[in-house]
Amino acid sequence: MLGNFTYCNPTKLYFGKDAIDSLNEELPKYGDNVLLVYGSGSIKKNGIYDKVVAALKANGKNVTEVAGVMPNPTVDKLNEGIAIAKAADAQLILAVGGGSVCDYAKALSVSINCNDDAWDKYFIRFEDVTCDIVPVGCVLTMVGTGSEMNGGAVITNHEQKLKIGHVFGDKVFPKFSILNPEFTYTLPKYQMIAGIYDIMSHILEQYFSGTDDNTSDYIMEGLLRSLIHSADIAVDNPLDYEARSNIMWIATWALNTLVAKGKTTDWMVHMIGQAVAAHTDATHGMTLAAVSMPYYRYIMPYGMDKFARYAVNVWGVSPEGKSAEQIASQGLDAMQAWMNKLGLVMNISKLGATEDMLDDIVKSTLIMSGGYKVMDADDIRAVVKASY
Ligand code: NZQ
Ligand code: ZN
Repeated sequence: MLGNFTYCNPTKLYFGKDAIDSLNEELPKYGDNVLLVYGSGSIKKNGIYDKVVAALKANGKNVTEVAGVMPNPTVDKLNEGIAIAKAADAQLILAVGGGSVCDYAKALSVSINCNDDAWDKYFIRFEDVTCDIVPVGCVLTMVGTGSEMNGGAVITNHEQKLKIGHVFGDKVFPKFSILNPEFTYTLPKYQMIAGIYDIMSHILEQYFSGTDDNTSDYIMEGLLRSLIHSADIAVDNPLDYEARSNIMWIATWALNTLVAKGKTTDWMVHMIGQAVAAHTDATHGMTLAAVSMPYYRYIMPYGMDKFARYAVNVWGVSPEGKSAEQIASQGLDAMQAWMNKLGLVMNISKLGATEDMLDDIVKSTLIMSGGYKVMDADDIRAVVKASY
């Protein structure tokens, strides 16, 4: 049965080859002081930076830059950005990049006017936002996280060996997001497939929970089928616009809160993956790929019917004459074969994890309770070891 929920998605999306032109529609809505936030420079090589700066100039904005936002943005970088944004009296934060840059912009937006230590307040104590929020707009250049249409941000503290996400809520969703699939053409294959798996993981984290008849599950099966189909095409031909645009759109729907409605949701693959990243700084989607198969094989007995449904409806496994366990296992076998074909990293040792880190990775894994099994430290240790 669908539980009670509130649904609100305040982000305005502009999608397509001319989407960047909508900056001219959006920028006049905000004050003159814009904080332009981006990563290590890919946008300068592929021309996106020039397009954005031209629109900012045409709209008479005073631009202050925060460059060098790294994948898995850190708390030190966040504190640096807070100081720059305060000095510039930023009235709009414009994020141009992937999930790391969009997340960073959202973390900044709730921290600039907050007198508390942002890391402690939001990522350790998980407190609500109590200060004025600086609005955020995104120009997305990498597909996967869904950050362009949600209110979450993930920040890494290397000193504390923690990588933690906070869902800030509706008010922190980007006010607008610009999605041009062509902007993703210059992504290296490693990042493209990591993003594709991040999308799959977001869907599965929500799908593998609950036993009721929930419309969200049917939507997610459709999203997964389209993702698998489009990913195969995009890997063969990265310039296939149809495939790249489908993947971009699926990524947004996978984590813009819609399919979570009425679901308890699991998120343990992300919790273990984030603990791996806190120790290795590895690419987000790859950390998820490396722990997923051991995790799903471990919890399959606790959610057998759903795993069997997944095998049939997503991977086309024929149920004829088979037990639920046989069907479910064949579904996971098909998923694993597809992941291998895509070229995903399937072991955490290949991401820089060493044997002496494993206990610490277990310790820094947050435990969630919405999946088919509430994991304890021994369960997590078994999954982490099997991922090694
Ligand atoms: O630094 P730049 O130059 O931007 O290069 C980036 C970076 O090296 C590069 N890149 C991006 N667009 C490109 C490009 N290179 C060439 N051409 C382009 N068009 O790709 C690399 C990875 O970028 P990043 O933003 O780190 O990737 P992603 O979008 O996967 O974001 C990962 C971060 O998002 C968080 C992750 O934990 C991680 O910190 N997540 C955020 C979520 C959310 N807000 O809801 C949910 C996710 O589960 C995830 O946890
Ligand atoms: Zn993710």
